[in-house]
Amino acid sequence: MENKTIKRIAVLTSGGDAPGMNAAIRAVVRAGFYYNLEMFGIYRGYEGMIQNEIKKLESKNIAHVLERGGTFLKSARSAEFRTEEGRKKAYDNLKKHGIDALVVIGGDGSLTGAHLFYKEYGIPAIGLPGTIDNDLAGTDLTIGFDTACNTAIQAIDKIRDTATSHDRLFFVEVMGRDAGFIAINAGIGSAAAATLIPEKKMPIERLIERLKARTKAMKTSNIVIVAEGGKSGGATEIAEKIKKQLPYYDIKVTILGHLQRGGAPSSSDRVLASKLGVAAVEGLIHGKYDVMAGVINNKVVYTPIAKAILGDKEVDEDDFRVAKILST
Ligand code: F6P
Repeated sequence: MENKTIKRIAVLTSGGDAPGMNAAIRAVVRAGFYYNLEMFGIYRGYEGMIQNEIKKLESKNIAHVLERGGTFLKSARSAEFRTEEGRKKAYDNLKKHGIDALVVIGGDGSLTGAHLFYKEYGIPAIGLPGTIDNDLAGTDLTIGFDTACNTAIQAIDKIRDTATSHDRLFFVEVMGRDAGFIAINAGIGSAAAATLIPEKKMPIERLIERLKARTKAMKTSNIVIVAEGGKSGGATEIAEKIKKQLPYYDIKVTILGHLQRGGAPSSSDRVLASKLGVAAVEGLIHGKYDVMAGVINNKVVYTPIAKAILGDKEVDEDDFRVAKILST
């Protein structure tokens, strides 16, 4: 049923930025205009909500942003929004602008904020999964994940060239916080010798066996992908352990870091962000609150935020199996 009370929607991006956030903002704003709503942008995420950095958005504000990385609304991680006083200030600012609904684009921390805010103040809010980590349930893919994987794979291709020229063993660390989604994709997509992810134990001895077997098979260079959140440490720590046991290997470490967060969004991220931006506005109009819009099997679905942020989305066993088969 159409909810007649929503006239003014504000959109914000929060937490780590992700390619495709601009495309999502644009879609939210365009869809709002399509349904004759007034649209507002909150700059610098929840921090900007507390500091009253809220501006009305016009068509010109969203021209030529779809293709750009980052977020023109800027992003922040707000410690103050975690306090009741901070959320009260934020609520008062929303009321000053007559805002009656929110679209929050971000990862689990950002969606947790929206959930809490809805519970405390009843502000209708919809979340969009905007994170390179792909660690939110309720969607097959998060906005930014595909681009980040492409960026990682392109970088690893370059590392492969120099690794091959010098017969070296490279440990390449990729982002993902506590999740191995980027790592597993990067491992499959770059023919890695091994992929270490937080979700699966890989004893150092097994990695050593694999490297020795590859040497026997006349493979003179190796790339090992290490997810940053692994329990045995990051790429540097793993490389040190291996160096002790295989001192004759010429070992190098590359940490891809924040370059994975930048760049123009891929076609897949642009389309995902655009679909979800429209879904957010239509969801709010139809009274869907405190949910995250996602895409499962190419269909838009709305999942309670409390469920999306549980942290129980798992790397596909089959992806892990494929990575293993192809690295031996
Ligand atoms: O959540 C996105 C992400 O890039 C993670 O992969 C990474 O662990 C974290 O953010 C880095 O955060 P920051 O940019 O605050 O250092």
